[in-house]
Amino acid sequence: MTTSATPETSPSPHLPRRLALPDFPWDSLSPYRERAAQHPDGVVDLAVGTPVDPTPEIARNALFSAANAPGYPTAVGAPVVRAAIAEWMERRRGVAGLGDGEVIPTIGSKESVALLPLHLGVRPGDLVLHPRAAYPTYDVGARLVGATPVPVDTDADPVTWGIAEDAPVAVVWLNSPGNPDGHVLSVEQMARIVAWARARGAVVISDECYAELGWESPWDTQPIPSLLDPRVGGEAGRSGLLALYSLSKQSNLAGYRAAFLAGDARLVGAVTEVRKHTGMLMPTPVQAALVAALGDEAHMEVQKEVYRERREVLVEATAAAGLVNDPASVAGLYLWLRGPKSMSAYELVGAFAELGIVVAPGDFYGEAGAGRVRMSLTDTDERVAAAAARLRSSEAAALFAG
Ligand SMILES: Cc1ncc(COP(=O)(O)O)c(C=O)c1O
Repeated sequence: MTTSATPETSPSPHLPRRLALPDFPWDSLSPYRERAAQHPDGVVDLAVGTPVDPTPEIARNALFSAANAPGYPTAVGAPVVRAAIAEWMERRRGVAGLGDGEVIPTIGSKESVALLPLHLGVRPGDLVLHPRAAYPTYDVGARLVGATPVPVDTDADPVTWGIAEDAPVAVVWLNSPGNPDGHVLSVEQMARIVAWARARGAVVISDECYAELGWESPWDTQPIPSLLDPRVGGEAGRSGLLALYSLSKQSNLAGYRAAFLAGDARLVGAVTEVRKHTGMLMPTPVQAALVAALGDEAHMEVQKEVYRERREVLVEATAAAGLVNDPASVAGLYLWLRGPKSMSAYELVGAFAELGIVVAPGDFYGEAGAGRVRMSLTDTDERVAAAAARLRSSEAAALFAG
């Protein structure tokens, strides 16, 4: 078997050049996974937020029906796709009147998070602001274009961020509900950030892939607001604003790579140009699955109940073990836990591994994650029940007592 060329053996003295990327964090979990796998009742994997429940029939059938697809799809997607996105944004997110040039399907949303700075022309020297405890790809996307990622407390008033008036802020990323912390931004919080960004000529992009998963008051009954909500953008409407959404979690379509972005037509147009040039096209069968899934609420409701029950079980069991969930973690797919004593994130990960449970250290999500772990709701009901039983044991109480 051949191995990939190292710089020593490469025919080019220059390539591959190392990009300014951080180490892929998940690799550091291997020893904890191995420890957890030794549990006599098997491992419970609550580290990666990858869905485990079946892809809904309606999406599978649509994919299958569109399997005969000899021609290229278009970058903007079929008209029926754009119409389905606009209709869903109005029905579920309160964003009416999105026109054809204001939406585009994407191949999952992670590629948008990583590549939007490139697509929008963010340059070296520009600042890309993102939440303090955040999905690592906002940072990666900034680094790929040589820009400077800056973590800021997006829950707080932007005047507290300490960013100079004349700083070259290009993008402000929001993520509501947040991964990993489950925080939700209100209309007022987002409106304040939008006004601040507009005054600096910066674009605001909101990653909203957990928007359907609200658990605690008021988000158990009220829809979680979108950045594109007319109350956020005010008179300037959607100017300078983009929102991302993904069907990976709400519809168990992570394997299909089905997502979209919506907002300011000038920004969507710029993104579309690059996607055309680079062949970033959502496959035709996936477009069909996206349309089917967006048009059906029944499967979403069923899936939401599954997550609600798993969350309740895990909230109760982690509390019984003395762990404390962030009180502002009110939505999304994760618990954001700290220990009863001051344990580091990796000490907590180690204690969970003794119980055969894998969780992610808060450090993966930036310095604000120190002393915390992220626990996802994505293992089967049977595995979640096994984790809960272990967390209620005296062994767990002793492990987390430090
Ligand atoms: C905050 C956030 N954004 C984006 C993504 C990417 O999701 P996908 O590429 O499956 O749409 C994830 C996945 O976990 C996420 O947590």
